[in-house]
Amino acid sequence: MSTISVSSSREHRVTVRTLAARKRRAERISMLTAYDFSFARIFDQAGIDLILVGDSLGNVVQGHDTTLPVTLDEVVYHTRLVARGCRHALVVGDMPFGSYQVSSEDAVRSAIRLVKEGGAQAVKLEGGLVVADAILRIARAEIPVMGHVGLTPQAVHRMGGFRVQGRTADERARVLADAAAVQQAGAFAIVLEGMPADLAAEITDRLEIPTIGIGAGPHCDGQVLVMHDMLGLNDWTPSFVKQYADLGAAAAKAARSFAEDVAAQKFPAEEHCYTAVREAPRRPGRQAERKAR
Ligand code: KIV
Repeated sequence: MSTISVSSSREHRVTVRTLAARKRRAERISMLTAYDFSFARIFDQAGIDLILVGDSLGNVVQGHDTTLPVTLDEVVYHTRLVARGCRHALVVGDMPFGSYQVSSEDAVRSAIRLVKEGGAQAVKLEGGLVVADAILRIARAEIPVMGHVGLTPQAVHRMGGFRVQGRTADERARVLADAAAVQQAGAFAIVLEGMPADLAAEITDRLEIPTIGIGAGPHCDGQVLVMHDMLGLNDWTPSFVKQYADLGAAAAKAARSFAEDVAAQKFPAEEHCYTAVREAPRRPGRQAERKAR
């Protein structure tokens, strides 16, 4: 059980050191995605530890089926909006497909853009052994790196769909090796996505760095959710998600009421209208008074 209350933890900026200490003290870590200033500020003030500007913006903001079309320019832009809304949470910029796979030099350049232009305090990239060198080089550029293994959405075509990873013995060994490689390369934390809960528990136990789970069971050091899923802003909610609000239904209801009010000429009412400045009646000037006499 955490000894840090949400309000006391809000007084300080979360850093990679805070997160390492949290793991040592077995205090859980919360992370949510955000893509704009308004929601970033709400989550930050609510005491969320990390805000991820995820490439999931391709799905939930841009309406694509995968995250693959998202560009580095787009993540930089959204990171800038989010960073402006955060005083407490650590802001993590997600490295989109194509921004780190070609070479480690490319990866460092992309990470630097997320920090320099976007205002991110850390970056995240997907993969294990194959991206270990990129993680090492980015970390050497003094940029904290978060890894991401298991179901890695940018590998959707290799995986043959968004499939849970690590169910067979072979897959399990591969996910374990990937997680170890990410830590070895110098990552400060790692996302474990879409894997059996006992595999996530084993990784969490083996690694010194915090694990942040999504669809990976309750034994991770922290949990992350995509904001549109947990707030009920999508048509469909994955089974591993707990929906904490139904903002989609609330927004639809509000929009319907607005349209009805406009049709019935109930909006705007008097209290929504500006009034003209009333000028005091002019007193006749001295010349006018003299003429009149
Ligand atoms: O892009 C994203 O939102 C993510 C989370 C699902 C971890 O990578």
